[in-house]
Amino acid sequence: MSIDLRPVDSGRSEPQPLPGLTVPGLPADFVWGAATSAYQIEGAVDVDGRTPSIWDTFSHTPGAIEGDDHGDVACDHYHRMPDDVRLLAGLGLDAYRFSLSWPRVQPGGRGPANAKGLDFYDRLVDELLAQGITPWATLYHWDLPQELEDAGGWPERDTAYRFADYAELAAGRLGDRVHHWITLNEPFCSAILGYHIGCHAPGRKDFRAAVRAVHHLHLGHGLAVERIRAVVPTPAQVGITFNPAQVYPASDSPADLAAARQADGMGARIYLDPVLRGRYPQDVVEDLARLGAELPVEAGDLEVIGRPVDFVGINYYVSDVVAAGGEPGETVRVPQPDRPVTAMPWEIHPQGMTDLLTRISRDYPGTAMYVTENGAAFDDSVYGSGAGGRIEDIDRTVYLADHLAAVGRAREAGADVRGFFAWSLMDNFEWAYGYGKRFGIVHVDYETQMRTPKQSAEWLRDAANAARGRQ
Ligand code: NOJ
Repeated sequence: MSIDLRPVDSGRSEPQPLPGLTVPGLPADFVWGAATSAYQIEGAVDVDGRTPSIWDTFSHTPGAIEGDDHGDVACDHYHRMPDDVRLLAGLGLDAYRFSLSWPRVQPGGRGPANAKGLDFYDRLVDELLAQGITPWATLYHWDLPQELEDAGGWPERDTAYRFADYAELAAGRLGDRVHHWITLNEPFCSAILGYHIGCHAPGRKDFRAAVRAVHHLHLGHGLAVERIRAVVPTPAQVGITFNPAQVYPASDSPADLAAARQADGMGARIYLDPVLRGRYPQDVVEDLARLGAELPVEAGDLEVIGRPVDFVGINYYVSDVVAAGGEPGETVRVPQPDRPVTAMPWEIHPQGMTDLLTRISRDYPGTAMYVTENGAAFDDSVYGSGAGGRIEDIDRTVYLADHLAAVGRAREAGADVRGFFAWSLMDNFEWAYGYGKRFGIVHVDYETQMRTPKQSAEWLRDAANAARGRQ
């Protein structure tokens, strides 16, 4: 396959070269995919029996989201799903990671399944399989049914049991065709951004509650693993997706080394250790105690949480250089002005991904990993209009190429990384940032809902083909 390298009215004097298509270190059976999540793309929030999630409530809270954007329509994927799957098939990727909307599948978060809600995912799975694309289903990408939040949300233990019931309903219906299941997406964000910082739904600011949420998310994961395995025939692959912090100390001073240890504990090991080692790190438990918080662990919980998983999903976007702050126990992030930034603006540091993947492989031996998200927001320009429009997102293309190369280096260093999902298949509702930040490899015109694959999508398609030896 070839790529048209000619710029279309780009306004640039010189066309920028695309990265080469060969990524060293990636084998022919490497999984190439793209990812989305339900609330970010589906819209149709009150259709076919769906009830509100915490993100419906939060996004309709004035001032919570940039521009007061919300997911009521989003990419209207609920109504355009067959076309979107055809578009995905045109990109020649192997796999598609999507999430199920809990309040669509089980309105209110309790009781029987909503047949119409499950029908939608049933059709999605069939469309994907008909196009030769492997479905990867995430059960929880942050859209907790509002009723469960009203009952206390993730800080309450009961939410973990409700999640396990929902997991069984979903897996029971789709498990004959979906063999890759991810229980949770980024529990750090659900717990810390949602219940401590308050910039994500449900917008609470209570550190103790956030720490309780961390444990109950883990418990929900462990309970769900068991329930999924019970209803999905082998060879079901069940895992969880984390966004572990990749932390570097700002200096070798004892204070900065201690700050890095603490940041690594709160940002990475508090999630990885219970799932992959069946225990919380002692230093993290002590740090939490100093901050007046406690993980509400009950007898038997860690056996449930530590049940073996088939893989761990890693979402990687940034790394952190940290130093000791002015207050005892305070850690501060030290900006790295020499690193380029995305539109978020997040620092770009592909080597952090190599370091993270090799570190997980060293500290948690035998862990199979997939990069379940990586990508970047940039301010894309559309040249031309309608079907002739073109988006030369060279920055995103280079970002993806550099991070795929980072994965290749991690593999060469021994990390068992088996696939890479670009975030995101299409521009979508970027949570607190609304629609202003575009992560898609496919452009979405929110006025017309027209989709246009960007240059990065073409590059990804061609790089995947090159890796498969089908160039
Ligand atoms: C991770 C989240 O899983 C996804 O929903 C989000 O859009 C990306 N990060 C980019 O912020």
